[in-house]
Amino acid sequence: MTEAQRRALARLWPRYGVALGDAPLVPAVLFRRAAPVILEIGFGNGDALVAAAASQPDHDFLGVEVHRPGVGSLLLKLADAGIENVRVIVADANDVLARLTPGTLQGVHLFFPDPWPKKRHHKRRLLQPAFAARLREVLAPGGYLHCATDWEEYAAHMLAVLEATPGFVNAAGAGRYTERPASRPMTRFERRGQAEGRPVRDLVFRRMEPSAR
Ligand SMILES: C[S@@+](CC[C@H](N)C(=O)[O-])C[C@H]1O[C@@H](n2cnc3c(N)ncnc32)[C@H](O)[C@@H]1O
Repeated sequence: MTEAQRRALARLWPRYGVALGDAPLVPAVLFRRAAPVILEIGFGNGDALVAAAASQPDHDFLGVEVHRPGVGSLLLKLADAGIENVRVIVADANDVLARLTPGTLQGVHLFFPDPWPKKRHHKRRLLQPAFAARLREVLAPGGYLHCATDWEEYAAHMLAVLEATPGFVNAAGAGRYTERPASRPMTRFERRGQAEGRPVRDLVFRRMEPSAR
């Protein structure tokens, strides 16, 4: 972590940071208002999160990341842009999902999760059947999950896992990827994928309304 990031963490954590305890996470308490909530998992240096929060001031954004240096960088960007509709949690996404009440979220962003390309490491990938089922559970009916990856084989795995998760419906139609939405900003990982000749796949799944089940 750079000295600037360390100072940013100390100064800005009280404004944006949320300590994860054993209690349920209640967004209306964290944000002091009732607004649609989007969770971004593994926000890295926070570029996509800052862009989304700035363009949707009527939504609240929870960012979760395990890698602390990225957090300092995000906090600096939030403060520089005067953004108030973001709260940040340094924790494993699984622990955050475990503390959310079912039906809480309007959306989940999972952009360029670690691909773990070696076959023996595939089990470390975040998007697995149990994780997908939990995501579906914490989404409100009609809420969405948006994933993006530049690893073709991980994209195929995501598609298979999400299509096999009861209660999720592929917004692009069965077996299809979604067109890259203009709302998803370009990040370092996407630029690197493109530079190395890997196309990016976007997947958007919606949680079905209860009546549609
Ligand atoms: C390849 S990076 C992508 C970062 C960012 N989403 C982007 O597009 O630039 C994956 C990120 O996920 C984070 N991550 C990995 N496992 C995680 C977990 N279990 N919970 C939260 N974040 C996680 C990593 O620390 C890393 O910053």
